Amino acid sequence: MRSLRRGRRPLLLAAAVVALAALVAPTVLGVFALVTVAEAVIATGLVALAGAVAVLGAAAFLLRRSMREMSQVVKTQTRTVTETLGRDRLETIRALDATRARVNRIQSDALPKLSQRITGAIAKQGRNDYEQQVAWNELSRHLDTAPFMPPLRGWAASPDVLRVLVHHIDHLRPDLVVEFGSGASSVWIGYALRRAGGGRLVAVEHDARYAELSRTLVASHGLDDIVEVRTAPLTGIEPATVTVGDEEVVTADRWYDADVLADLDGIGLVFVDGPPKATGRHARYPALPALMPHCTEDVVFVLDDADRPDERAVGDRWLAEHPELHRTEEHAEKGAHVFSRKGV
Ligand SMILES: C[S@@+](CC[C@H](N)C(=O)[O-])C[C@H]1O[C@@H](n2cnc3c(N)ncnc32)[C@H](O)[C@@H]1O
Repeated sequence: MRSLRRGRRPLLLAAAVVALAALVAPTVLGVFALVTVAEAVIATGLVALAGAVAVLGAAAFLLRRSMREMSQVVKTQTRTVTETLGRDRLETIRALDATRARVNRIQSDALPKLSQRITGAIAKQGRNDYEQQVAWNELSRHLDTAPFMPPLRGWAASPDVLRVLVHHIDHLRPDLVVEFGSGASSVWIGYALRRAGGGRLVAVEHDARYAELSRTLVASHGLDDIVEVRTAPLTGIEPATVTVGDEEVVTADRWYDADVLADLDGIGLVFVDGPPKATGRHARYPALPALMPHCTEDVVFVLDDADRPDERAVGDRWLAEHPELHRTEEHAEKGAHVFSRKGV
């Protein structure tokens, strides 16, 4: 189209010249009386005809040229579009193949593994639930508790670790039990001591609000002659740097205010269930070095949540620093490690 427009100007010019010649010729010839009027008209007609033929020929030539150009453009554009579509299609096929391969991998590999893990976890949960139910029933029958007892598990100790504690209370008949972290367990241990016929529990609690809640709970079970909940805020201690495997661990810089423990002596059983993990690494480590000098020869330390790597590492440190101790790993849903003197 552009070439057609480009060619229009010379064409118009030629037509104008021809028209001018056709108009001027009869006049000029007539003025000079070189031809008759009839001859002049015929000559003019011939000139005009020749001009028209020339203009039509030029127009036809330009039209053909522009048609050829247009067809070339259409061909090029068609090729570009076809190539682009082909490339896109190839990429789409490749992407589909990759997705199909990924789906196949998930189906044949990841899904069976995931389903196996889920089945395993459900089975484990079912076993745990059953074992905790059994332990709860055994505890409440053995301890002759009130019908409505503070719930266990979750933030509180689980029935299975309480069963371990009750076993040691029955066996050791301790005069003094110390518990780090008060709550539901304070009540259950209170019942165990009452059944054992003596002994008291000092439950050490860093959080004043929970200490008050625990006191209320203990009182509601009529155990305040056996269980004392002491508030001991976490205060600064010197952190240590210890090596655990390939890791350098900087330990927690807070522990219970030791002044609150100063009067405790003749401790026969210690339940280490605090401070909370968020206090820092190896948060429960200080319990044993702090209390050991105030314990009986047959003292037993029960460390809860021992399935956690940090608690296991705390136990490792205790054993390394006290070769006279040995560790028994009790079967419990959160892990319970029991430390006592060898041969006692
Ligand atoms: C690991 S929990 C265990 C407490 C206790 N040994 C037991 O088994 O019930 C440790 C902390 O939980 C907090 N706690 C006490 N009573 C609580 C309650 N009713 N709800 C949530 N947390 C509580 C206290 O700060 C306590 O030191």
